[in-house]
Amino acid sequence: MKKVKKALIPAAGLGTRFLPATKTVPKEMLPIVDRPILLYIVEEAVRSGIEDIVIVAGRGKTAIEDFFDRSYELEDTLEKAGKTDLLETIASIKNMANIVSIRQKQALGLGHAVYTGRPVIGDEPFAVLLGDELMIRKEGHPECTQQLTDVYEETQQSVVAVMEVAADQVHKYGIIECEQISDHRHKVLSVVEKPTVADAPSRLALPGRYVFTKEIFDYLKNTRPGKNGEIQLTDGMTELAKKQGLLATLFHAQRFDAGDKLGYLQANLELALTRDDLAEPVRNYLKSLKNKISHLKL
Ligand code: G1P
Repeated sequence: MKKVKKALIPAAGLGTRFLPATKTVPKEMLPIVDRPILLYIVEEAVRSGIEDIVIVAGRGKTAIEDFFDRSYELEDTLEKAGKTDLLETIASIKNMANIVSIRQKQALGLGHAVYTGRPVIGDEPFAVLLGDELMIRKEGHPECTQQLTDVYEETQQSVVAVMEVAADQVHKYGIIECEQISDHRHKVLSVVEKPTVADAPSRLALPGRYVFTKEIFDYLKNTRPGKNGEIQLTDGMTELAKKQGLLATLFHAQRFDAGDKLGYLQANLELALTRDDLAEPVRNYLKSLKNKISHLKL
Protein backbone atom coordinates (compact mmCIF):
# COMPACT_ATOMS: atom_id res chain seq x y z
CA MET A 1 0.00 0.00 0.00
CA LYS A 2 1.39 3.40 -0.98
CA LYS A 3 1.58 6.22 1.55
CA VAL A 4 1.49 9.91 0.70
CA LYS A 5 4.97 11.30 1.33
CA LYS A 6 5.12 14.11 -1.23
CA ALA A 7 3.29 17.40 -1.48
CA LEU A 8 3.11 20.21 -4.00
CA ILE A 9 2.43 23.82 -3.08
CA PRO A 10 1.57 26.11 -6.01
CA ALA A 11 2.96 29.56 -5.19
CA ALA A 12 3.37 31.17 -8.58
CA GLY A 13 0.41 33.56 -8.55
CA LEU A 14 0.97 37.29 -8.96
CA GLY A 15 -0.86 38.19 -5.75
CA THR A 16 -2.76 41.00 -7.43
CA ARG A 17 -5.28 41.19 -4.59
CA PHE A 18 -2.46 42.32 -2.28
CA LEU A 19 -0.72 44.87 -4.48
CA PRO A 20 1.29 46.96 -3.83
CA ALA A 21 2.58 44.77 -0.92
CA THR A 22 3.11 41.85 -3.30
CA LYS A 23 5.11 43.87 -5.82
CA THR A 24 8.28 42.66 -4.11
CA VAL A 25 7.05 40.27 -1.39
CA PRO A 26 5.44 37.00 -2.57
CA LYS A 27 1.94 36.78 -1.10
CA GLU A 28 2.85 33.41 0.46
CA MET A 29 5.48 35.24 2.53
CA LEU A 30 3.08 37.79 4.03
CA PRO A 31 3.01 37.25 7.80
CA ILE A 32 0.15 35.95 9.87
CA VAL A 33 1.20 37.39 13.23
CA ASP A 34 4.97 36.75 12.83
CA ARG A 35 5.16 33.73 10.54
CA PRO A 36 4.75 33.66 6.76
CA ILE A 37 1.56 32.04 5.46
CA LEU A 38 3.70 29.45 3.70
CA LEU A 39 5.23 28.24 6.97
CA TYR A 40 1.78 27.33 8.34
CA ILE A 41 1.12 25.39 5.15
CA VAL A 42 4.45 23.55 5.19
CA GLU A 43 3.84 22.69 8.86
CA GLU A 44 0.40 21.29 8.05
CA ALA A 45 2.01 19.09 5.38
CA VAL A 46 4.83 17.92 7.66
CA ARG A 47 2.41 17.12 10.50
CA SER A 48 0.44 15.05 7.98
CA GLY A 49 3.43 12.79 7.30
CA ILE A 50 4.77 14.59 4.21
CA GLU A 51 8.56 14.39 3.77
CA ASP A 52 9.21 16.00 0.36
CA ILE A 53 7.64 19.30 -0.64
CA VAL A 54 7.71 20.76 -4.14
CA ILE A 55 7.05 24.48 -4.23
CA VAL A 56 6.02 25.70 -7.69
CA ALA A 57 7.11 29.31 -7.70
CA GLY A 58 7.21 32.00 -10.35
CA ARG A 59 9.58 34.83 -11.15
CA GLY A 60 10.44 37.17 -8.29
CA LYS A 61 9.84 34.54 -5.63
CA THR A 62 13.40 33.88 -4.51
CA ALA A 63 12.39 35.00 -1.00
CA ILE A 64 10.60 31.63 -0.74
CA GLU A 65 13.76 29.65 -1.52
CA ASP A 66 15.83 31.79 0.83
CA PHE A 67 13.34 31.29 3.62
CA PHE A 68 13.89 27.52 3.65
CA ASP A 69 17.65 27.83 3.23
CA ARG A 70 20.26 28.24 5.93
CA SER A 71 20.89 31.80 7.05
CA TYR A 72 24.47 31.79 8.39
CA GLU A 73 24.71 35.46 9.27
CA LEU A 74 21.39 35.56 11.07
CA GLU A 75 22.06 32.34 12.98
CA ASP A 76 25.51 33.58 13.98
CA THR A 77 24.16 36.94 15.16
CA LEU A 78 21.37 35.31 17.20
CA GLU A 79 23.83 32.87 18.75
CA LYS A 80 26.24 35.63 19.76
CA ALA A 81 23.34 37.63 21.22
CA GLY A 82 22.25 34.58 23.26
CA LYS A 83 18.80 34.58 21.64
CA THR A 84 18.53 30.80 21.76
CA ASP A 85 14.73 30.54 21.35
CA LEU A 86 14.79 32.57 18.15
CA LEU A 87 17.87 30.72 16.96
CA GLU A 88 16.09 27.39 17.39
CA THR A 89 13.01 28.66 15.54
CA ILE A 90 15.10 29.92 12.63
CA ALA A 91 17.39 26.89 12.51
CA SER A 92 14.51 24.39 12.62
CA ILE A 93 12.81 25.80 9.50
CA LYS A 94 15.43 24.45 7.10
CA ASN A 95 15.15 20.93 8.57
CA MET A 96 11.36 20.64 8.47
CA ALA A 97 11.19 18.78 5.16
CA ASN A 98 13.08 18.33 1.90
CA ILE A 99 12.00 21.40 0.00
CA VAL A 100 12.42 21.48 -3.76
CA SER A 101 11.59 24.61 -5.64
CA ILE A 102 10.63 24.56 -9.30
CA ARG A 103 9.67 27.42 -11.61
CA GLN A 104 6.45 27.79 -13.53
CA LYS A 105 7.74 29.91 -16.37
CA GLN A 106 4.36 31.19 -17.53
CA ALA A 107 1.27 31.79 -15.39
CA LEU A 108 -1.03 29.52 -17.42
CA GLY A 109 -3.30 28.46 -14.56
CA LEU A 110 -3.42 26.26 -11.47
CA GLY A 111 -3.67 23.04 -13.52
CA HIS A 112 -0.48 24.00 -15.34
CA ALA A 113 1.28 24.88 -12.05
CA VAL A 114 0.48 21.41 -10.69
CA TYR A 115 1.62 19.78 -13.96
CA THR A 116 4.94 21.66 -13.66
CA GLY A 117 5.72 19.52 -10.59
CA ARG A 118 5.48 16.23 -12.50
CA PRO A 119 9.24 15.62 -12.94
CA VAL A 120 9.77 15.87 -9.18
CA ILE A 121 6.61 14.07 -8.01
CA GLY A 122 6.99 11.19 -10.49
CA ASP A 123 4.63 8.23 -9.97
CA GLU A 124 3.90 8.82 -6.29
CA PRO A 125 0.52 9.82 -4.87
CA PHE A 126 0.85 13.42 -3.66
CA ALA A 127 -0.95 16.13 -1.73
CA VAL A 128 -1.60 19.63 -3.10
CA LEU A 129 -1.95 22.51 -0.64
CA LEU A 130 -2.82 25.91 -2.07
CA GLY A 131 -0.37 28.56 -0.94
CA ASP A 132 -2.92 31.08 0.28
CA GLU A 133 -5.42 28.88 2.11
CA LEU A 134 -4.82 28.43 5.83
CA MET A 135 -6.20 25.34 7.53
CA ILE A 136 -5.84 25.53 11.27
CA ARG A 137 -6.22 22.17 13.00
CA LYS A 138 -9.03 21.90 15.53
CA GLU A 139 -8.40 20.34 18.94
CA GLY A 140 -9.00 16.59 18.82
CA HIS A 141 -8.89 16.39 15.01
CA PRO A 142 -6.09 15.64 12.55
CA GLU A 143 -4.69 18.22 10.11
CA CYS A 144 -6.85 18.71 7.00
CA THR A 145 -4.16 17.15 4.77
CA GLN A 146 -3.82 14.24 7.21
CA GLN A 147 -7.58 13.63 6.86
CA LEU A 148 -7.08 13.33 3.11
CA THR A 149 -4.03 11.08 3.31
CA ASP A 150 -5.98 8.82 5.72
CA VAL A 151 -8.80 8.49 3.16
CA TYR A 152 -6.26 7.83 0.41
CA GLU A 153 -4.53 5.14 2.45
CA GLU A 154 -7.86 3.49 3.21
CA THR A 155 -9.21 3.59 -0.37
CA GLN A 156 -6.14 4.15 -2.63
CA GLN A 157 -8.25 6.77 -4.45
CA SER A 158 -7.68 10.47 -5.09
CA VAL A 159 -9.57 12.63 -2.62
CA VAL A 160 -10.31 16.33 -2.11
CA ALA A 161 -11.45 18.41 0.85
CA VAL A 162 -14.82 20.12 0.43
CA MET A 163 -16.79 22.63 2.49
CA GLU A 164 -20.37 23.80 2.24
CA VAL A 165 -20.65 27.45 1.11
CA ALA A 166 -23.54 29.90 0.81
CA ALA A 167 -25.17 30.39 -2.61
CA ASP A 168 -23.55 33.82 -3.04
CA GLN A 169 -20.09 32.26 -2.60
CA VAL A 170 -20.15 29.47 -5.21
CA HIS A 171 -18.76 31.75 -7.94
CA LYS A 172 -15.44 31.93 -6.07
CA TYR A 173 -14.66 28.20 -5.99
CA GLY A 174 -14.45 24.91 -7.80
CA ILE A 175 -17.79 23.20 -7.02
CA ILE A 176 -18.33 19.44 -7.11
CA GLU A 177 -21.14 17.44 -8.65
CA CYS A 178 -21.40 14.41 -6.42
CA GLU A 179 -23.22 11.44 -4.89
CA GLN A 180 -23.17 11.12 -1.13
CA ILE A 181 -21.56 7.90 0.13
CA SER A 182 -21.67 8.48 3.89
CA ASP A 183 -21.99 11.31 6.43
CA HIS A 184 -18.74 13.01 5.46
CA ARG A 185 -17.84 11.37 2.18
CA HIS A 186 -18.95 11.90 -1.42
CA LYS A 187 -18.14 10.36 -4.77
CA VAL A 188 -17.22 13.17 -7.19
CA LEU A 189 -18.82 13.00 -10.65
CA SER A 190 -17.41 16.25 -12.02
CA VAL A 191 -16.03 19.60 -10.90
CA VAL A 192 -17.16 22.98 -12.22
CA GLU A 193 -14.79 25.94 -11.86
CA LYS A 194 -16.43 29.04 -10.38
CA PRO A 195 -19.99 28.48 -11.65
CA THR A 196 -22.90 30.88 -11.33
CA VAL A 197 -25.44 29.89 -8.67
CA ALA A 198 -27.75 28.69 -11.42
CA ASP A 199 -25.08 26.40 -12.87
CA ALA A 200 -23.63 25.16 -9.57
CA PRO A 201 -24.20 21.39 -9.21
CA SER A 202 -24.01 21.62 -5.38
CA ARG A 203 -22.89 23.95 -2.59
CA LEU A 204 -19.78 21.85 -1.91
CA ALA A 205 -16.69 23.94 -2.67
CA LEU A 206 -12.97 23.15 -2.90
CA PRO A 207 -10.92 25.04 -0.31
CA GLY A 208 -7.55 24.03 -1.77
CA ARG A 209 -6.52 20.67 -0.25
CA TYR A 210 -6.18 17.64 -2.52
CA VAL A 211 -4.53 14.21 -2.72
CA PHE A 212 -3.99 12.88 -6.23
CA THR A 213 -2.73 9.69 -7.78
CA LYS A 214 -0.20 10.06 -10.62
CA GLU A 215 -2.92 9.82 -13.31
CA ILE A 216 -3.90 13.47 -12.68
CA PHE A 217 -0.77 14.43 -14.65
CA ASP A 218 -1.99 12.58 -17.78
CA TYR A 219 -5.27 14.49 -17.67
CA LEU A 220 -3.62 17.84 -16.95
CA LYS A 221 -1.24 17.29 -19.86
CA ASN A 222 -4.24 17.20 -22.21
CA THR A 223 -6.32 19.88 -20.47
CA ARG A 224 -7.01 22.86 -22.72
CA PRO A 225 -7.50 26.38 -21.31
CA GLY A 226 -10.93 26.60 -19.67
CA LYS A 227 -12.55 29.18 -17.38
CA ASN A 228 -10.84 32.59 -17.73
CA GLY A 229 -8.54 31.14 -20.41
CA GLU A 230 -6.53 29.24 -17.77
CA ILE A 231 -5.56 25.56 -17.58
CA GLN A 232 -7.81 24.63 -14.69
CA LEU A 233 -6.98 21.96 -12.14
CA THR A 234 -10.72 21.33 -11.82
CA ASP A 235 -10.97 20.28 -15.52
CA GLY A 236 -8.22 17.70 -14.97
CA MET A 237 -10.08 16.56 -11.84
CA THR A 238 -13.27 15.94 -13.81
CA GLU A 239 -11.36 13.56 -16.09
CA LEU A 240 -9.79 11.90 -13.06
CA ALA A 241 -13.24 11.52 -11.43
CA LYS A 242 -14.69 9.94 -14.57
CA LYS A 243 -11.85 7.56 -15.35
CA GLN A 244 -10.05 6.77 -12.06
CA GLY A 245 -12.51 7.84 -9.39
CA LEU A 246 -12.31 10.81 -7.03
CA LEU A 247 -13.65 11.13 -3.48
CA ALA A 248 -14.51 14.26 -1.51
CA THR A 249 -14.56 14.62 2.24
CA LEU A 250 -15.75 17.31 4.61
CA PHE A 251 -13.00 18.43 6.99
CA HIS A 252 -12.71 19.73 10.54
CA ALA A 253 -10.04 22.45 10.35
CA GLN A 254 -10.73 26.17 10.66
CA ARG A 255 -10.12 27.65 7.26
CA PHE A 256 -9.03 31.17 6.34
CA ASP A 257 -8.72 32.51 2.82
CA ALA A 258 -5.49 34.37 3.52
CA GLY A 259 -5.32 35.44 -0.14
CA ASP A 260 -8.31 37.70 0.50
CA LYS A 261 -7.88 40.93 2.50
CA LEU A 262 -10.67 40.23 4.99
CA GLY A 263 -9.64 36.58 5.39
CA TYR A 264 -6.06 37.72 5.97
CA LEU A 265 -7.08 40.15 8.71
CA GLN A 266 -9.33 37.54 10.33
CA ALA A 267 -6.49 34.99 10.35
CA ASN A 268 -4.15 37.51 11.99
CA LEU A 269 -6.63 38.36 14.72
CA GLU A 270 -7.78 34.83 15.44
CA LEU A 271 -4.29 33.35 15.50
CA ALA A 272 -3.06 36.21 17.69
CA LEU A 273 -5.83 35.22 20.13
CA THR A 274 -4.32 31.71 20.37
CA ARG A 275 -0.88 33.03 21.32
CA ASP A 276 0.26 33.22 24.95
CA ASP A 277 2.17 36.45 24.32
CA LEU A 278 -0.65 38.22 22.48
CA ALA A 279 -4.04 36.83 23.54
CA GLU A 280 -4.64 39.22 26.41
CA PRO A 281 -3.56 42.51 24.79
CA VAL A 282 -5.45 41.62 21.61
CA ARG A 283 -8.58 40.74 23.61
CA ASN A 284 -8.34 44.07 25.43
CA TYR A 285 -7.85 45.88 22.16
CA LEU A 286 -10.92 44.19 20.65
CA LYS A 287 -12.97 45.19 23.70
CA SER A 288 -11.87 48.83 23.33
CA LEU A 289 -12.69 48.64 19.65
CA LYS A 290 -16.17 47.39 20.48
CA ASN A 291 -16.76 50.48 22.62
CA LYS A 292 -15.37 52.71 19.88
CA ILE A 293 -17.72 51.38 17.22
CA SER A 294 -20.80 50.79 19.39
CA HIS A 295 -22.19 54.20 18.47
CA LEU A 296 -21.89 53.49 14.76
CA LYS A 297 -24.92 52.25 12.85
CA LEU A 298 -23.75 48.81 11.60
C1 G1P B 1 -8.49 28.13 -7.03
C2 G1P B 1 -9.15 26.93 -7.72
C3 G1P B 1 -10.57 26.71 -7.21
C4 G1P B 1 -10.55 26.59 -5.69
C5 G1P B 1 -9.89 27.84 -5.09
C6 G1P B 1 -9.75 27.73 -3.59
O1 G1P B 1 -9.08 29.31 -7.47
O2 G1P B 1 -9.13 27.15 -9.13
O3 G1P B 1 -11.12 25.55 -7.79
O4 G1P B 1 -11.87 26.44 -5.21
O5 G1P B 1 -8.58 28.02 -5.62
O6 G1P B 1 -9.21 28.92 -3.07
P1 G1P B 1 -8.41 30.78 -7.18
O7 G1P B 1 -8.89 31.19 -5.82
O8 G1P B 1 -6.93 30.59 -7.24
O9 G1P B 1 -8.94 31.65 -8.27
